[in-house]
Amino acid sequence: MTLQNNTFSGLFVGQNLVSLTEVDSTNNFLKQSLANSTPLIEGTVIMAESQYAGRGQRQNQWHSQPGKNLTFSILLKPTFLPLNRQFNLNVAISVGIIKAIEKVLGPNAKIKWPNDIYFGSNKLGGVLIENMVQGSQIKNAIVGIGINVNQTIFEDGAANAISVKQILHKDYELKALLAEICNEVEVAYLMLRSENFEPLQAFYLQKLYWLNELRPFAANGITFNGIIKDVNPNGLLCIETNNELIQYNFKEIEFLNKPTPK
Ligand code: BTN
Repeated sequence: MTLQNNTFSGLFVGQNLVSLTEVDSTNNFLKQSLANSTPLIEGTVIMAESQYAGRGQRQNQWHSQPGKNLTFSILLKPTFLPLNRQFNLNVAISVGIIKAIEKVLGPNAKIKWPNDIYFGSNKLGGVLIENMVQGSQIKNAIVGIGINVNQTIFEDGAANAISVKQILHKDYELKALLAEICNEVEVAYLMLRSENFEPLQAFYLQKLYWLNELRPFAANGITFNGIIKDVNPNGLLCIETNNELIQYNFKEIEFLNKPTPK
């Protein structure tokens, strides 16, 4: 079912909104539609009330109680972005989501590198970006976003999950939050497209979870205390430990929640 709508004040993100009752994963649905050569305009949003095979990062599953949360995917076409700057899209998307969340929850929302959405030390949402590369261009980017909104009971596997309702103690209208996120993502994406990246990068860093704090990590089976100092242009996390700055990719580093013994 395709809805024409006026709730979305932006130019293109969310203007074509496809609302599904149930699907395996909105990212898969969008990928499949593109593979079937269905012409879809940039900014198309696929949202679902329920996903029976929602996917997260690191091959994880994404569980979400039907009808309670936002699970949606945005189609973007960042053909202007060089492949070695793919991470800039993650930055823009994270910034857009945080700006929208701040309007609802105030200034305590954080970005846990690379692009988890945190509130305090709890996970409020996640982002799964899948880029479809052709030659040296990103032809399509499928930006999957899951935000815990009105769910209040989470399974054991999602022990540190939190929702908007748990913070505000009242239900929040899903469509209103969706519109806010779409509008802010569009603003950030347009900045990225017009090569106005510095403010996005600065905001991303300013909101980075554990930035400049001595915290416990694990890498290669070794636990250590370190300080996140930066995220480099390739998206690697720069951690200072023993006066050395080491860069890690997503698979190499784990944030530990318990302090390591000294
Ligand atoms: C993560 O934190 O691991 C990323 C979670 C991303 C979940 C969203 S929900 C909408 C879209 N469809 C999916 O299957 N995954 C993303």
